[in-house]
Amino acid sequence: MNPAPSLRVVSHRDTDLHAAYCDYVAQVFTQADFRRWCEWRQWNEDYLAFCVFQDGRVVANASAMRMRLVIEGAHVDGWQLGAVGCLPQLRGRGLARTAMHAALAHCGDAPILLFANERVLDFYPRFGFAPAPQSLFALDWQAQPGSEQAPVLDLADPSVRAQFLRAAASARPVSERFGARDYGRTATWYAANGYASALHRLDEDVWVFAQAEDGVLTIEDVFASEPVDWPAAIGRLIDQPIRELRFGFTPERDWPQARVLGEEADAGLFVRNLAVPASPNRFALLART
Ligand SMILES: CC(C)(COP(=O)(O)OP(=O)(O)OC[C@H]1O[C@@H](n2cnc3c(N)ncnc32)[C@H](O)[C@@H]1OP(=O)(O)O)[C@@H](O)C(=O)NCCC(=O)NCCS
Repeated sequence: MNPAPSLRVVSHRDTDLHAAYCDYVAQVFTQADFRRWCEWRQWNEDYLAFCVFQDGRVVANASAMRMRLVIEGAHVDGWQLGAVGCLPQLRGRGLARTAMHAALAHCGDAPILLFANERVLDFYPRFGFAPAPQSLFALDWQAQPGSEQAPVLDLADPSVRAQFLRAAASARPVSERFGARDYGRTATWYAANGYASALHRLDEDVWVFAQAEDGVLTIEDVFASEPVDWPAAIGRLIDQPIRELRFGFTPERDWPQARVLGEEADAGLFVRNLAVPASPNRFALLART
């Protein structure tokens, strides 16, 4: 008979358990992987995994990433849950619930958010979460490629990673309405898994994830400590003429004239103890766990 499942909190210090955690993620999520992120040494004290172990394996989990949230100009500490799941063959036995309760007890009364997929939209309300809409933003913007392009850098290079994380730690929040600050180690997860746009370094303190396609420049995220001169910067980000900008975040700070394109239908934002602004917003894609 298998031993009874038991809960254990896995932190960045428990490197001997990281392989078990990564195996769990690979079995439950087809599109998520933590191996490269761990190899890149991105797991730090901000990330805790509330794991249910059985026989040395992680069988269910709910992870909590400490978040420095920005909500209508206020800087608020909170948490984001992620990697919530249970191995397919052990579902329906209350194991994910055990992991969720442990993570929620740790977060206490702090604001919590998470991004759910469409199969679990009825799961999170059982734990006190409510859905909140997310919007897509765009702006008409004509621009030609500049004479000099900003270098595109690869976060697989440890020295690039170190520079990027320094810049991300001191970056001004890209939105004061709804977003976060200092989430460089979440952004590197996307790069480690090949899901981030190209990373352009405009200068030491200005890093932009962006991709131009069919005349549309999608600015996925911006990590800059000082205001950016966008009319000059955009020419350095594109290799084709563009007519439109789109944004992977709430763009009201630098682009107050951006318009709402529609709802981000599959965002799946859920919140608990957190009042999402009534005005349209998009929590930064690269800050989602
Ligand atoms: C959703 C998931 C985590 C549930 O795990 P589980 O261990 O089977 O869940 P539990 O047995 O602890 O169920 C807890 C409660 O949630 C309910 N529940 C389980 N899955 C649910 C779902 N998909 N939608 C709604 N309710 C669900 C259970 O019926 C149970 O209700 P009860 O308290 O009334 O008995 C699991 O199916 C899973 O890993 N799915 C794939 C990964 C995934 O999509 N994770 C979410 C990422 S956002």
